[in-house]
Amino acid sequence: MLDVLCRHLPMVRLRISALAALAVAAVACTGDIVDPEGDPLEAATRAFDTTVAPTMQTKCVSCHVSTENPQFMRPNPTLREGVLTFNNGALVDLMDPQASRLSVYASSQAHATVGVNYLPAEAAAVTAWVELEALAAGVEAEPVVETAKITPVTGANEVDLGSIGLTGSKLTFDYQPLATGMYLSRIEVVAATGGVRLVHPLFVVWDGPTAIPDPIDRFSDIDLTVAEMTTSQVGGGTAVFVDIPPSGELSVHFKTATFANGMPPSDDGGIIGGGCKAVDQFTTIARPQLTTCANQCHAGAQAPALAATDMSKLLDDAQQPDACAQILSRVSKLNPDQSSIIVSVDPAVPNVHPQFKVPAANFATYRTQMLVWINAEAAP
Ligand code: HEC
Repeated sequence: MLDVLCRHLPMVRLRISALAALAVAAVACTGDIVDPEGDPLEAATRAFDTTVAPTMQTKCVSCHVSTENPQFMRPNPTLREGVLTFNNGALVDLMDPQASRLSVYASSQAHATVGVNYLPAEAAAVTAWVELEALAAGVEAEPVVETAKITPVTGANEVDLGSIGLTGSKLTFDYQPLATGMYLSRIEVVAATGGVRLVHPLFVVWDGPTAIPDPIDRFSDIDLTVAEMTTSQVGGGTAVFVDIPPSGELSVHFKTATFANGMPPSDDGGIIGGGCKAVDQFTTIARPQLTTCANQCHAGAQAPALAATDMSKLLDDAQQPDACAQILSRVSKLNPDQSSIIVSVDPAVPNVHPQFKVPAANFATYRTQMLVWINAEAAP
């Protein structure tokens, strides 16, 4: 259950509400706010008292302090501690706050038939609070992969995965506004060069500055690999979000998002995570083969070429590890021969990358040299 996702969302929520509450005019937005008052426990307690307890006292107390139903609202000694310790902590999941039973179960069909369910924003408040409890308990946060926000329009929409380094790939869906919600259908991933592997997509609707993650986290079990130039449906392909503003913005978060071969994507020419282990071979053997590509197009002379395959560091002697990592994202370690850095410029494959082909007379050399480096990267 080390499935920690979406930690930033509640932080953002907290930051905003905390700022409003404290009327702090100017606080630099440098990354996460973890504890606005220097004490995570205090922040967690305050979040519970101000954002979780009031809803429970209004909507849940009628059933959950009586004897017949689960009595998690009996103070022990405080309400917060009662909820935290109920049934050995079964209601909260510090490793994966989004999956906390308190919010998930009270957003479910099963509970709706016996009780009163949370609205999505109320469930999000529970997640936000559990996030803070996790911080107070010292649970490590993991980074979140988050696309840029889009404002859905009726009909076809696309979320550009270029914003998370997967240049050219996108997530598409049809959108239909509901009276108080959003209806998404035909949710698909269209994979460009390198393909994509997406784990645990989480749709997040934005009510102004407030993030409302999908309360039932319906795609939590998705681990989807889509080969390049193909399209695949995401899960059941449909999602209905109720009780949220139909005009809100939307973003998608992933536990991980990589190329199909598992390589981390590049980000603005930099590399998130992993890099090359055969930088020397890259510099001495592969780099000379690529200087033409860099000089003519991919080092910046042509913006679309740079966006497609970034070689901006290639010519810089001091930045060879980064230069290598940039090209590594265009390599298949499983099938070195099928690496896009080779196939795209193969004169015998006319339908891809028509902008440029290595001259037929030189291609065998190009291929052999590139493979020396790629095989060095692929070696166990
Ligand atoms: C009308 C009565 C009623 C109301 C109001 C109600 N519930 Fe429940 N709830 C139940 C009953 C009955 C059960 C036990 C049966 C079941 O698990 O489906 C239950 C079970 C639960 C459980 C599972 C507990 C466990 O560990 O098994 C959770 C969590 C829960 N409710 C949360 C809530 C929350 C949060 C609210 C307020 C937003 C709420 N309930 C409001 C009747 C209610």
